[in-house]
Amino acid sequence: EQDPLVIFTPSGKRGRFPVGTPVLTAARQLGVDLDSVCGGRGICSKCQVAPAFGEFSKHGVTVAKDALSEWNAVEARYDEKRGLKPGRRLGCQATIQSDIVIDVPPESQVHRQVVRKAATERVIEMDPATRLVLVDVTEPDMHDPSGDLQRLQAALHAAWQVDLGELPLALLSKLQPVLRKGNWQVTCAIFQPAEGKAQLLDLWPGYFEGPLYGLAIDLGSTTMAAHLCDLANGRVLASSGLMNPQIRFGEDLMSRVSYAMMNPGGDAEMTAAVREALNQLAEEIAKEAEIDPKLIVETVFVCNPVMHHLLLGIDPVELGQAPFALATSDSLSLFASELGLDAIHPQARSYILPCIAGHVGADAAAVALSEAPGEQDDLTLVIDVGTNAEILLGNRSRVLACSSPTGPAFEGAQISSGQRAAPGAIERIEIDPETKDPRFRVIGCDLWSDDPGFEAATAVTGITGICGSGIIEAVAEMRMTGLLDASGLIGSAEQTGTVRCEPDGRTHSYLVHDGSADGGPRITVTQGDIRAIQLAKSALYAGARLLMDEMAVDTVDRIVLAGAFGAHISPKHAMVLGMIPDAPLKAVTSAGNAAGTGARIALLNRASRKEIETVVRQITKVETAIEPRFQEHFVAANALPHASDPFPNLSA
Ligand code: FES
Repeated sequence: EQDPLVIFTPSGKRGRFPVGTPVLTAARQLGVDLDSVCGGRGICSKCQVAPAFGEFSKHGVTVAKDALSEWNAVEARYDEKRGLKPGRRLGCQATIQSDIVIDVPPESQVHRQVVRKAATERVIEMDPATRLVLVDVTEPDMHDPSGDLQRLQAALHAAWQVDLGELPLALLSKLQPVLRKGNWQVTCAIFQPAEGKAQLLDLWPGYFEGPLYGLAIDLGSTTMAAHLCDLANGRVLASSGLMNPQIRFGEDLMSRVSYAMMNPGGDAEMTAAVREALNQLAEEIAKEAEIDPKLIVETVFVCNPVMHHLLLGIDPVELGQAPFALATSDSLSLFASELGLDAIHPQARSYILPCIAGHVGADAAAVALSEAPGEQDDLTLVIDVGTNAEILLGNRSRVLACSSPTGPAFEGAQISSGQRAAPGAIERIEIDPETKDPRFRVIGCDLWSDDPGFEAATAVTGITGICGSGIIEAVAEMRMTGLLDASGLIGSAEQTGTVRCEPDGRTHSYLVHDGSADGGPRITVTQGDIRAIQLAKSALYAGARLLMDEMAVDTVDRIVLAGAFGAHISPKHAMVLGMIPDAPLKAVTSAGNAAGTGARIALLNRASRKEIETVVRQITKVETAIEPRFQEHFVAANALPHASDPFPNLSA
């Protein structure tokens, strides 16, 4: 008689196994993705399965024909203590009795799918570099004089095929008490890079359920944004941001490089400032998610080259002058403590994505990872809007990249009423073409300002300023309603027909919201704000055009607009401003924080780190700083939307 046939879903993997084979064993032999932390001891419950047909009975009551086996004692104990969902079995305890179809639910898959790439819909599998495993270590005895560490190494190798590298002293001193306290059973946090030896990050007596956490950090020149992720399932538990404190040394990258050049020790000052803020960010985000920051064991950084060097404590002076040599363009894997991150786990790891070139950094690499222009048939232009914009243009045959110094205006800095994207910031604006009155929405409230209940809903946050997406919409709406002319000049009250256009020195400004009666700010868009946006958008457009020249094209098939976290740039408004080249509106999509998503992918999936390391080598870099055509494009792009490009899709 043949052994029972076992089919796993959703993988469809199948095989025949003798009666009595544990499901976990069958899964492993077939290469089915079934999780386990405790190695089959009935402790962790990560291995849960459900038979796709038939019903269960508990505690030795006769089981249905297609069931796996009788409910066994280990499961009964687990169920009593912690509860198993109806219909669920522990895969390490349930044994195969007859032909059966077994479903592995998403929570029981190690490689479950969580992150979707915004534009490509590509699914990313969970495969973090750090995981928890439980092992039983042989007790020492007089006849076997080996050390506790050697027996732990042997146990990890035998049960999990883990080859442990050197142990830091701090962990070595913890080893003996932990082993004895756990009665020779110990949970290890193992960091396993794609290549090379594994590292023990920490150990706990007995079974430690975790979870462990990771931080994906987009370290921008103006703002720093972080996502806190559960490393077991990829879920984002909290997202938070801070202004980059280096702003006091210079608003844009080049002024920070000059600060380092002019002031001995200036680079070290900026390094200390950013590291201190990163610790603060880690503490804040952990507090928000109500977790212990010391359980954050991994961090991934994406940043532009200057931030990259300043984070690492490397003087960025070489990046301020041609040929813009990086200290290293390779990715880096190091201890977070080497970056001064002491708010998190003392053995936490940090991975920094590779840089593409001296002006095109790990943030552009992260955008390439999340938006994958090199995997598209369509010619795709990806623009990541920030103080330094990362621009990628390409398809399957070729990808080009450049960065463009837009300045911080798009992030709400250098704007009179500007602020970073945070509750209370105006993020959307519409101006009535007849009355020229604005209606707006603020972050943290779902209502528009003219909806009933808006005042009460914003009573706590107040209306504090305008963030990046808000100022883009404000300027575009002002142009569309005739408050601004094509050169970017704000009209007077007589010219525009609204008293909201009020005199402001020798120019005019537009009043968006007056909160002064309640002690709040008076929020206006000034002529200076318009100029700052014009400079920023010209730089963005010029960078994109430069890549199009290099590719010898006049149009692109798709445009993906990515921006700082929380802010979503409206494609229509971006085109009215001439921030992006002309394209059919439906070909323009908004991708949120693509660099942050790239960081999250690298945090949750080890293989993606290898992938991006390969991809960056194939990207052609275009240097904006030494390219005279950049300047020509920049000047012509100052008008709204542009001095010579007709923007046919806009008039249509
Ligand atoms: Fe841990 Fe089954 S593998 S409970």
